[in-house]
Amino acid sequence: MVDEVVRIVGGRTLAGAVAIAGAKNAGLPLLAASLLTDEEVVLHRVPELRDIGFMGDILQKLQGEFVHSGGTVRVRMENPRGNPDYDAVRLMRASVCVMGPLVARRGEVQIPLPGGCVLGARPIDLHLRGLERLGCSISLRNGLVHVAARRLRGANIFLGGRHGSTVTGTANVLCAAVLAEGITQIQSAACEPEVVDLCHLLCKMGARIDGIGSPTLTIEGVGRLHGAEHTLIPDRIEFGTFLLIALITHSDLVLPAIESVAHGALLDILAQAGASIEVGPERTFIRGSACELRPVELTTLPFPGFPTDLQAPMCALMTQAAGISVLTERVYPSRFSHVAELERMGGHILLEGPSAIVRGPTKLSGAPVTATELRGGACLYMAALAAEGESVIRGVEHVDRGYENFDAKLRSIGAVVERECLGQRLAP
Ligand code: EPU
Repeated sequence: MVDEVVRIVGGRTLAGAVAIAGAKNAGLPLLAASLLTDEEVVLHRVPELRDIGFMGDILQKLQGEFVHSGGTVRVRMENPRGNPDYDAVRLMRASVCVMGPLVARRGEVQIPLPGGCVLGARPIDLHLRGLERLGCSISLRNGLVHVAARRLRGANIFLGGRHGSTVTGTANVLCAAVLAEGITQIQSAACEPEVVDLCHLLCKMGARIDGIGSPTLTIEGVGRLHGAEHTLIPDRIEFGTFLLIALITHSDLVLPAIESVAHGALLDILAQAGASIEVGPERTFIRGSACELRPVELTTLPFPGFPTDLQAPMCALMTQAAGISVLTERVYPSRFSHVAELERMGGHILLEGPSAIVRGPTKLSGAPVTATELRGGACLYMAALAAEGESVIRGVEHVDRGYENFDAKLRSIGAVVERECLGQRLAP
């Protein structure tokens, strides 16, 4: 892989409208759900992202047809054969989303156990416990988890863990339960809009699911599922990131209309921070130019709480608020790899257990920095856009996993963003 870096000249005011892509974290489990049928599944508004490409590769290696063109993916998994390999899971943890669908479809799957990552330990014990309750036998050997079931049978399953519910764990158990015999009740199911989107696709494919959007899902198993066509929900984390970009650069931006239910916690925190946001039926208008930022105290929690995926971007923003902010992580207590990088740009941040204590306002200055994960990368882009002078961000491949055309979108609203291979400038 070519090592790319991004150069950003900060301090510019941005202006204009930004389009928001389909949600990555809906796209991945929905693509995996295509394994539940031998008919074609067509998904629209699928973002062009590295992670979506990884999932496409996995489906192709399982002998399926996968075509992504103009935002539409056509997948047909007529007779899935093989198993994801270690590299697939190492490159993208969400590869585990194929586990539930594959065991439901063909009674067996073998998948490398994902290890920890930069966000922390990230076990999959809840996924496995849920599948076990449905009648799967689970064994671990040579780093591979083998999940097998002669017959899946409905069961009562509790999916809450130390850090709350599990998003991809709920997706896995749900995908297995829709083809299980009898009734399954999942308690403490994740309520994230991306799980709701998965339920909607599954229902279009013929599944019977009650309680969609609530922590208790009741599933009546069916004999088979059929093909379906579906449009992904917009990416709420990309949307939130652009709201925060408007605020950190004191810019006025126009974003598409939103379902405010999906953004309740963010809108509430931003109101406390002094932001003025007009949420209209046609568009959302954020007036960053008129905002005197105030500090906030926030805690990340499973939906409808404040999303962990916006904690790092919020950390960048709070370096500009006048006073002390406290950002506490309850989902991934060690998701703070961005903090040391923000400090290199002049941020004053103290890490105290699972909390970042940010003292602002700080004049940030451009610096070479490194992203080690997707949202930490977005946080560094934000800091660089606000900083005086030039920043060079390494590790931008993490950002490409989850933000579609991020550089081009930023340039279209006036940011100075250039990408280059180490030693060689790339045309914008
Ligand atoms: N957990 C367990 N056991 C499990 C599963 C999870 O203890 O079996 C713990 C995790 O370690 C964590 C918490 O439960 O502390 C929540 O993890 P969850 O399983 O909900 O996370 P995930 O499904 O692996 C998805 C998103 C993440 C997002 C989290 C939390 C996808 C593909 N990924 O991950 O997205 O941060 O939910 O909302 O949907 C990102 O987009 O940057 C990203 C990391």
